[in-house]
Amino acid sequence: MASSYDKIEEIARRRGLFWIGSEIYGGLSGFYDYAHLGSLIKARWEKEWRSFFLGLDDNFFEIQPAEIMHEKVWQASGHVESFVDPVVKCKKCGNIERADKLLEEQLKENFEGISLEELSNVIKNHNLRCIKCKGSLEEVGVLNLMFPITAGNDVRAYLRGETAQAAYVNFLREFECLRKKLPLGLAIVGKAFRNEISPRQLITRMREFTQAELQIFFDPDKIEEHPKFESVKDYRLLAMPVKNRPQAMEITCEEMTRHVPQFYVYHMARVQQFFLNVMKIPREAFFRFKELSDEEKAFYNKYHWDIEVKLESIGGFLEVGGVHYRTDHDLGAHQKFSKQDMSVFVGGKKFVPHVLELSFGVDRNIYALLELCYREDRERSTFAFPRNLSPFDCGLFPLVSKDGLDEKSEELKAFLRDAGFSVFYDNSGSIGRRYRRMDEIGVPASITVDHKTLEDRTVTIRDRDSMQQVRVVIAELPEILGKFLSGTAIESLGTPIK
Ligand code: GAP
Repeated sequence: MASSYDKIEEIARRRGLFWIGSEIYGGLSGFYDYAHLGSLIKARWEKEWRSFFLGLDDNFFEIQPAEIMHEKVWQASGHVESFVDPVVKCKKCGNIERADKLLEEQLKENFEGISLEELSNVIKNHNLRCIKCKGSLEEVGVLNLMFPITAGNDVRAYLRGETAQAAYVNFLREFECLRKKLPLGLAIVGKAFRNEISPRQLITRMREFTQAELQIFFDPDKIEEHPKFESVKDYRLLAMPVKNRPQAMEITCEEMTRHVPQFYVYHMARVQQFFLNVMKIPREAFFRFKELSDEEKAFYNKYHWDIEVKLESIGGFLEVGGVHYRTDHDLGAHQKFSKQDMSVFVGGKKFVPHVLELSFGVDRNIYALLELCYREDRERSTFAFPRNLSPFDCGLFPLVSKDGLDEKSEELKAFLRDAGFSVFYDNSGSIGRRYRRMDEIGVPASITVDHKTLEDRTVTIRDRDSMQQVRVVIAELPEILGKFLSGTAIESLGTPIK
């Protein structure tokens, strides 16, 4: 049986979600192009992300900084020195693999965060050989992931390895522009570049990918408080602390504050709500926060919990993001390197703000959505996307392309688009095939204009998931469609069609 990866890859290519970059020249490993449908879904996800996370505080804003940044930024941040992966090279053919991932694949255990020496020992003890030529392997070494670049003739720079640094180097200016208030949130939705040693598994490990990251600058003396904590204190987090592995547990936010500060816990709750309520990830079995041990944590984090989603293709959990308490690691380092004072004067005292980072890999979230929403039975295949994350709000079809139904449909298309809906219009083929096509690309509602429409100004709406249809009055369609897209069941929105 084809793996889920193969299946998603095949569907992605056939329906226009994504495919390997530079394909007509044989493809470029680690780079993918989003096609028309994938772009629409990604744009929807990003829109929901912005609306949810920028909505958390009136002092949170999006910025769009440059993707190429001065080499000093990355020297200061520690990426030039520490942003490395463990690698192992074949003595015979020279093939290089990421050592921990190689072991993970061969031995089905997690090796992230263990030392180079230990990795070398495991390779020796299990007599692991090159996956390409079966040659013997060298000692484990490291390779830096940053992409160096020369700007103009001689200015050394890097493609950014994370969006976060662009927020840090812009912090002071934004703080001044935004009336010197904390907390201040700077969000960036954009590209990050990492020269991954073994890019694989489609869009989940690429060399160019999209991140959605929110950097929250705050007063470290206020880490044990959040003004809205009351609203989440009884909310139950799904979390796997280090000492509980491999079991996740449910824990209220209030209980969680015994382990991590309140400011951090409040944002964990909001992140989980985004996944469960907006992305509609099924609760217990599919979502968890995973606490990282001291050895596993990123070099800049004091507290580090990954956000994970369970996927069949992985045979386990995929890291789709993280909640990172980066302290003053970054602003402090930029202060030292740039010789610019990064401290602020707030609440009667001078200090360098600390940073809580909410970090999301957009492509991994899209992949998780595709895999979790894909359904197939004898009759049809469907992407059961949440209605807010579908590529279009509705499909619109004249039952036949004659008798004035085409014209009426065109009129309705303009009416719906003016009302703010995205509409996929299709006037050819049997109506059954057109419905199937909407199911295949995950459009939640299909509206059909038929001969009755010309008599009484009504249309039918079909629900992708239940395949139920109701008849509604055109004048009420924007309101009805709005309710449907917000989650109202189709049966309650019109006269059912038997
Ligand atoms: N600013 C913090 C940061 O960059 P990270 O854990 O290195 O943290 C954040 O990256 C997220 O970006 C990850 O949780 C993952 O979802 C995504 N990501 C990281 N490397 C990736 C890659 N090579 N391809 C696709 N997504 C990746």
